[in-house]
Amino acid sequence: TPVNVFDLVVFGGTGDLARRKILPAMFKRFCAGEMPDGSRLIGVARRAMPAEAYRDMVRAALDEFLKTPIDPEAVEHFLQRIEYVQLDAQGEDGWQSLAEMMLPDRMRAFYFSVGPSLFSDLAARLRLWGLADENSRIVVEKPFGHDLETAKALNAELATHFKECQIYRIDHYLGKETVQNLMAVRFGNMLFEPLWNSQYIDHIQITVAETVGVGGRGAYYQKAGAMRDMMQNHMMQLLCLIAMEPPAKFDPEAVRDEKLKVIRALDPVEPHHIIRGQYTSGEDVASFREDVADARSKTESFIALKCHLSNWRWAGTPFYLRTGKRLKTRSSQITVVFKDAPHSIFGPASGRHNNELTIQLQPDEGIILDVTIKEPGAGGMKLIDVPLDMSFAEALGPKADAADAYERLIMDVIRGNQTLFMRNDEVEAAWAWTDPVIKGWELRGDVPKPYDSFANGPDDSSQLLRRDKREWRGIK
Ligand code: BG6
Repeated sequence: TPVNVFDLVVFGGTGDLARRKILPAMFKRFCAGEMPDGSRLIGVARRAMPAEAYRDMVRAALDEFLKTPIDPEAVEHFLQRIEYVQLDAQGEDGWQSLAEMMLPDRMRAFYFSVGPSLFSDLAARLRLWGLADENSRIVVEKPFGHDLETAKALNAELATHFKECQIYRIDHYLGKETVQNLMAVRFGNMLFEPLWNSQYIDHIQITVAETVGVGGRGAYYQKAGAMRDMMQNHMMQLLCLIAMEPPAKFDPEAVRDEKLKVIRALDPVEPHHIIRGQYTSGEDVASFREDVADARSKTESFIALKCHLSNWRWAGTPFYLRTGKRLKTRSSQITVVFKDAPHSIFGPASGRHNNELTIQLQPDEGIILDVTIKEPGAGGMKLIDVPLDMSFAEALGPKADAADAYERLIMDVIRGNQTLFMRNDEVEAAWAWTDPVIKGWELRGDVPKPYDSFANGPDDSSQLLRRDKREWRGIK
């Protein structure tokens, strides 16, 4: 779909997310012809600087964070679309200049790429300065609230200034190419959906493993932990897409209604079905407790859990979710493990295999289906697994150079498509499920298990599956 002329106003325009993700994403969309003449990107921050200095900063960010070689001429053209406004989110300074720059008849998106403590101030001031009219949209980054109560308060506050259809709550996992492909595979093929239930599926597992530690975000992370930082949002969104009923249409309300039903069908997690971990120091790396500067920190950098959905489709099928930092490799995947064929006609000596569908999110995006065939040769009926491999890089060639999640999501904001953004009730339902778990730890004074850096997380995490005679796929 064509794009109308627009303004994208980035609060936090000099910040880390803007430099790493938003600016490079916009440059790529500019190169793809999706920033029609007259469209502007307006960086906003507290710092005083001439627009020219901001453009220099943008140029440097593109150099640093774009992986593909860039055309210097295109960069100069892009920079001509860039403006800068100095503004105080919590005071009056700068708002008038911003208001004067806005043009009456064009769509403007205000991207809140700032700390969550500023979200309501920004929304209120946009309203005050007449910038909350029907031409406006706001994009709200995570964390969306710290628990159910704060999320509700934030939703209520935003709703006094903007309609729900103007509010875009980002979860960048929904913008990832393979995550969208997951929906294409499920709902675009006849092959999978008839088997997509507890009758044929033994269990489903989702792993999002990172090698990085908490880096410079110790202060935030110490308060958040993996449960709030990854589980409440990214992991639950993946769970929703894998478990939801087919929506009648790929449109915002239909998709989000179905996701909401998944979250609401989640049983409370049993405390002994959750393993928390904290990384210890390793060669050349500090421990979690050093990283967050708290020698007695009880915050988790790893979490593994088993949960159930109480609905017709999934009753009896466990879902195992695991995420952590400082693990062996950066690897995120969803594995759908099908049940064994009901009876083996080849006898016990043939070896017996079940099918598995692996959706690899990163790195090397792709989808692989393990099927059982006969081992070649004259040695009788021996069965082996071979992968039907749909690695996108091979199948699709250069096109498979996937757009970054932010490119897709920002353009969805510009086009006015909320399908891949979280609705108010969805975020609240996710917190309603997460809150009691966190409260339980606090009450019990639960201490996460230490685990070695660059390994598999705490042993208890493997035990969680072994108890059920299963094992983790991916890192182990
Ligand atoms: C962010 C979390 O939302 O997602 C980070 O706050 C995490 O802690 C990141 O590292 C992971 O994103 P990605 O796209 O690198 O998998």
